[in-house]
Amino acid sequence: MQCSWKAVLLLALASIAIQYTAIRTFTARSFRGCPAAGPANCSPGAGEAELAERACDEGPTPAYNLSRRTHLLILATTRSGSSFVGQLFNQHLDFFYLFEPLYHVQAALLPRFPQGRGPAERRVMLGASRDLLRSLYGCDLYFLENYIRPPPANHTTDRLFRRGASRALCSPPVCEAAGAADAAPEVGDCARRCGLLNLTLAAAACRARSHVAIKTVRVPEVSDLRALVEDPRLNLKVIQLVRDPRGILASRSETFRDTYRLWRIWDGTGRRPYNLDVSQLTTVCEDFRNSVATGLTRPAWLKGRYMLVRYEDLARNPRKKTEEIYGFLGIPLDGHVERWIHNNTRGDRAAAKHKYGTLRNSAATAEKWRFRLSYDIVAFAQNACRQVLAQLGYRAAASEQELKNLSLSLVEERAFRPFL
Ligand SMILES: *[C@@H]1O[C@H](CO)[C@@H](O)[C@H](O)[C@H]1NC(C)=O
Ligand SMILES: *[C@@H]1O[C@H](CO)[C@@H](O)[C@H](O)[C@H]1NC(C)=O
Ligand SMILES: *[C@@H]1O[C@H](CO)[C@@H](O)[C@H](O)[C@H]1NC(C)=O
Ligand SMILES: *[C@@H]1O[C@H](CO)[C@@H](O)[C@H](O)[C@H]1NC(C)=O
Ligand SMILES: *[C@@H]1O[C@H](CO)[C@@H](O)[C@H](O)[C@H]1NC(C)=O
Repeated sequence: MQCSWKAVLLLALASIAIQYTAIRTFTARSFRGCPAAGPANCSPGAGEAELAERACDEGPTPAYNLSRRTHLLILATTRSGSSFVGQLFNQHLDFFYLFEPLYHVQAALLPRFPQGRGPAERRVMLGASRDLLRSLYGCDLYFLENYIRPPPANHTTDRLFRRGASRALCSPPVCEAAGAADAAPEVGDCARRCGLLNLTLAAAACRARSHVAIKTVRVPEVSDLRALVEDPRLNLKVIQLVRDPRGILASRSETFRDTYRLWRIWDGTGRRPYNLDVSQLTTVCEDFRNSVATGLTRPAWLKGRYMLVRYEDLARNPRKKTEEIYGFLGIPLDGHVERWIHNNTRGDRAAAKHKYGTLRNSAATAEKWRFRLSYDIVAFAQNACRQVLAQLGYRAAASEQELKNLSLSLVEERAFRPFL
């Protein structure tokens, strides 16, 4: 068991090394023509142009000011409310939004390790992930083809992970299917209705928008992004989304019923299974702890580039928190985002529930975990994650009564001001 695990990891490392050579060549070329420090205006070239042929002065398309684009990364973890936060940018007409493109890196490099495994495997992916992010922020969607399986032919694919979560990829000119223009399409509907995704068109749609936002749950902590934050070609801003780890655990147990089966057995029987994988909880807490500690010490490299958002604050006051986030970014909020918030955060519209959906009574959802987990598990989590709970202002419940008593808030009032 141990042995084969190591063999797979070694193989993965070897394959990364090989992929890496290719990646390095590509990356160097795709940015050579467009130094941010050089001419401020830069056109990444006509849509059909090959990746390697890009140059600053190429193509008749109007140039845009590369250095003013905001490259936003939503740094999150599974079941922390990241779909919700993603929508705050997906709905904005000036943003090109991608939902979890790093899925493809993981699927290609570490197919044997499903998401949610230990931090070692995730770290293996980091170099490749950073290169992909850098390319995507430059609207270089062809670069993603290195990781999509089967490899796209003629720059088209039907395999883009959760394409439907990206509005720009489901509306004209990327998708001309009738009715796609307005009304956020149903997530599952897009791929069926729109057919093959033409990555050339998608890249053009990306370039046509002022900003790029990418959500990921596959980067463990903010210091993993330092190379990108400090990259002068980018204007990266990181929104770190955190949530009470007890809430994350409850939500994952419900959503990923197989992977978190032993937690549910514990919950149901009152007995903790001997083979419980405690790291399913502690990895979240460690990543949060490290990342938040980095953010709170305010290193110079993060100045103006990092904002910590607690999901619970967003859920309680979505409008106000969203304004704060846009304030941090220095980008005006638009009416589509406001309407989307209005439509999707009130209790009476909670009908269309989907596993990954966002249509919910947000405030109540954030607290549901208190009725889903037994006090035993909660006490265990509170002990295992003591530091991060204190750091983020989540109160421990001292008893079953406290846990179930909703007039007792477990979320302390804290203002996590962005580091400006
Ligand atoms: C591009 O944006 C940068 C940063 O906002 C600004 O300093 C520069 O003057 C802009 N260049 C042009 C040509 O607008
Ligand atoms: C790619 O395009 C070429 C030329 O249009 C065509 O011959 C070929 O069949 C296409 N390949 C696929 C897999 O669609
Ligand atoms: C994708 O879109 C581009 C730009 O419109 C077009 O030239 C190309 O033929 C399209 N690719 C396919 C396979 O349809
Ligand atoms: C909000 O809901 C209204 C009425 O149901 C709908 O017409 C509109 O398209 C929705 N807007 C957004 C941004 O979801
Ligand atoms: C719930 O908590 C409130 C506030 O601390 C307290 O006044 C109340 O008695 C508690 N209710 C129960 C049933 O314990």
